[in-house]
Amino acid sequence: MKELLIAPSILSANFGFLAEEIKSIDKAGADWIHLDVMDGHFVPNLTFGPPVIKSIRPCSQKPFDAHLMVTNPDEVIEEYVDAGVDIITVHKEVTPHLDRTLTRIRELGCKAGVSINPGTSISGLEFLLDKLDLILVMSVNPGFGGQTFINSSLGKIKIISDLVGKRPINIQVDGGVNSEIAPKVIKAGANVIVAGSAVFKEGNVESYKQNIKSLRH
Ligand code: DX5
Ligand code: ZN
Repeated sequence: MKELLIAPSILSANFGFLAEEIKSIDKAGADWIHLDVMDGHFVPNLTFGPPVIKSIRPCSQKPFDAHLMVTNPDEVIEEYVDAGVDIITVHKEVTPHLDRTLTRIRELGCKAGVSINPGTSISGLEFLLDKLDLILVMSVNPGFGGQTFINSSLGKIKIISDLVGKRPINIQVDGGVNSEIAPKVIKAGANVIVAGSAVFKEGNVESYKQNIKSLRH
């Protein structure tokens, strides 16, 4: 059984107090800090990039988990490495030479992940298992926080979990996960839960702590 990890998505944080928000979720028990990078092209929303990540890097020692929702991951990977992230996840839909991209991410000293949208098949991942540290199953169509969990993701997580077997590959699920959905995705085989709105509701450290705890149990 892999360790269960909670990765709050700062997409739902108050961007006006971003540094404080990172310190708060760190203190509240987050395992990883999930960074939703959106470019306004791959997804219809724009968030932040390397300069913002660099400026919040000192706020926590926890792994920075960069989820790149961008059309040109190969061109920007190095900037995210320089900004201090630990894990880089690219989308299968926009990464034609996935084997090369994952190899490069590792060569640059980061853990390498691939993300698949709800309508994307897992085909091909079976050839990349030795290059992957993480598979991210999107359980909403990426772009916005606060959407409803898409139920067919559970079957997909199960198939991926069977494919991964005992390999040291994290299975991450992202989108619409709250304390009611969490046990289902864990049962299906996920071990890293991303949650934005379910963690950041109420806006203070005490509630963040409670929210992270209820995702874990
Ligand atoms: C969606 C992002 C997710 C999302 C999570 O494009 O990748 O990280 O914001 O937010 P919730 O938990 O609110 O669905
Ligand atoms: Zn994400």
